[in-house]
Amino acid sequence: MTFFEQLKLERDLWWQRKDGQRIRTVLDALPRIEAHFEIQNGIVCVGDSNDQHKDKWIESAKSLIPWKKGPFKLCGEHIDAEWRSDMKWDRLVGQLGNLCGAKVLDIGCNNGYFLFRLAELGVELAHGIDPVLPFAAQYELIQRASGLQNIKFDLFGVEHVDQWKDSWDCIFHMGIVYHHRSPIHQLLAIREALVPGGTAIIETIGIPGTESIALFPQDRYARMGNVWFVPTLPCLVSWAEKAKFIDIEVISDSDLTSEEQRLTAWCPPPSQSLIDGLDPQDPSKTIEGHPAPRRFMIKVRKKA
Ligand SMILES: C[S@@+](CC[C@H](N)C(=O)[O-])C[C@H]1O[C@@H](n2cnc3c(N)ncnc32)[C@H](O)[C@@H]1O
Repeated sequence: MTFFEQLKLERDLWWQRKDGQRIRTVLDALPRIEAHFEIQNGIVCVGDSNDQHKDKWIESAKSLIPWKKGPFKLCGEHIDAEWRSDMKWDRLVGQLGNLCGAKVLDIGCNNGYFLFRLAELGVELAHGIDPVLPFAAQYELIQRASGLQNIKFDLFGVEHVDQWKDSWDCIFHMGIVYHHRSPIHQLLAIREALVPGGTAIIETIGIPGTESIALFPQDRYARMGNVWFVPTLPCLVSWAEKAKFIDIEVISDSDLTSEEQRLTAWCPPPSQSLIDGLDPQDPSKTIEGHPAPRRFMIKVRKKA
């Protein structure tokens, strides 16, 4: 048995945990609906708005609140998630090149919004990994209503990526690096996991600045407790160079706005969003007095 077959068996047991059982019951009780998939103005639309079982599906989606990533439309119902992930996609898609027939890994894929966007590009496989059960459940709900076969989700983590060698044409590593204590190790593992000549998209929050430095918040950053290193853009580029990537290109260096990240009916309080992490008197600072987050995205390549 391979490492990943063994890991999958172990992670499938997570559904037997208390919260896992509740979610599994919701998903297993869903009646069959006619699968449907299309993208409309950045919204991933699945299921049919005339389906006789639509109320049951929408009720199940509501039981999985909060939805952090989207937007989705399920049987005509707009799931307006906290994040307008379509805005990140718009910054990214022009840089991806032709992914028709490619194998893509999305590390920390949340509910898989980007997997559905990749499916539309004709990839052979878009494989998302994220070790959080409620996100796996949201993915399963949308995937079943979409009928798509070229996407896949596993409850794996970034710490398992070093088990893949020369495997992926493209890897997304977005919104992950600052949550972990070894940025360079992660980037090295990603390089190993790419096929020679393969491409990775690295996206992160960052701080303004022209020096190659990273903020190491002593305590919280924008109310988040699990933030380790927050780089300047030159620092992110240096990390990629140290990990021996080539053809490093800056794709975006943008403000994070409450148009892109905000609370909604599908991600209501007590969840918190961008605005809660910023100083109400001076939004250029976090509530703790650090520089407010920007978002950086770079594209890098493994030597052929
Ligand atoms: C800030 S979100 C980014 C989501 C998405 N990649 C994006 O760019 O919008 C961080 C994601 O990392 C996931 N995560 C948490 N621990 C992880 C781990 N050990 N490995 C991979 N992903 C993890 C979280 O569940 C969450 O979905």
